[in-house]
Amino acid sequence: MSLLTMNDLSKSYRTETLETAALDGVSLEIGEGEFVAIMGPSGCGKSTLLNVMGMLDGPTGGSYRFAGQEVAGLRESQLAETRKKYIGFIFQSFNLVDELTVRENVELALLYHNIPAAERKARVEKVLDKVGIAHRAGHRPAQLSGGQQQRVAVARALVAEPKLILADEPTGNLDTAHGEEVMRMLRQLNVEGSTIVMVTHSPSHADYAGRVINMLDGRIVVERRRAA
Ligand SMILES: Nc1ncnc2c1ncn2[C@@H]1O[C@H](COP(=O)(O)OP(=O)(O)OP(=O)(O)O)[C@@H](O)[C@H]1O
Ligand SMILES: [Mg+2]
Repeated sequence: MSLLTMNDLSKSYRTETLETAALDGVSLEIGEGEFVAIMGPSGCGKSTLLNVMGMLDGPTGGSYRFAGQEVAGLRESQLAETRKKYIGFIFQSFNLVDELTVRENVELALLYHNIPAAERKARVEKVLDKVGIAHRAGHRPAQLSGGQQQRVAVARALVAEPKLILADEPTGNLDTAHGEEVMRMLRQLNVEGSTIVMVTHSPSHADYAGRVINMLDGRIVVERRRAA
């Protein structure tokens, strides 16, 4: 079943002197349960595509339907609501809150979900356990290795049980071993049913995905699927 559909989507950024077409007519359909990798040179529009997909940024043209709903018609508050409910983000730079513990960082993603405190706690413990970081639940991000911080970020992305996980170069700040660890975790999540869209510069990490999309100058230029 289709989770999202983009049709002739465009996104341009305008500064005083220059207009950049970050996305230039992207058409794309992603089904539930897919694991998609997005590749391409720096500046080709990968992060822009992910941000539009995650409703962090609005397109300037074309249509975007997510879970059957046209996103362009949604108000800011509805966008935020949809995003919180359905989408989990993982970033290259982890984006954890330094002042909060591991446990609190993950719990943050569940606030405003109207979940009773006791259930919130139970879900946080469960997801920390799942990503293998429960033994560091009381630590602050600065007291963890990069690989451990990214595991916390994965836990935060997962705890609200999103339909879609968006990961922008999730291994970009990790050494080889920790990068592989995060990739194996993403693959496992996909096997368990999560839909994942991941930006990567690494061909070997793209191999974890069932489908690889190559972009150039704001367009999709090549696409291949792994034989089943
Ligand atoms: N807020 C912005 N204002 C103006 N131009 C922007 C803005 N964000 C991105 N751009 C431009 O849009 C284009 C696409 O940027 P984007 O960040 O999507 O690239 P990318 O493929 O993710 O690159 P990288 O691999 O370096 O992360 C670039 O030319 C960039 O300079
Ligand atoms: Mg980028």
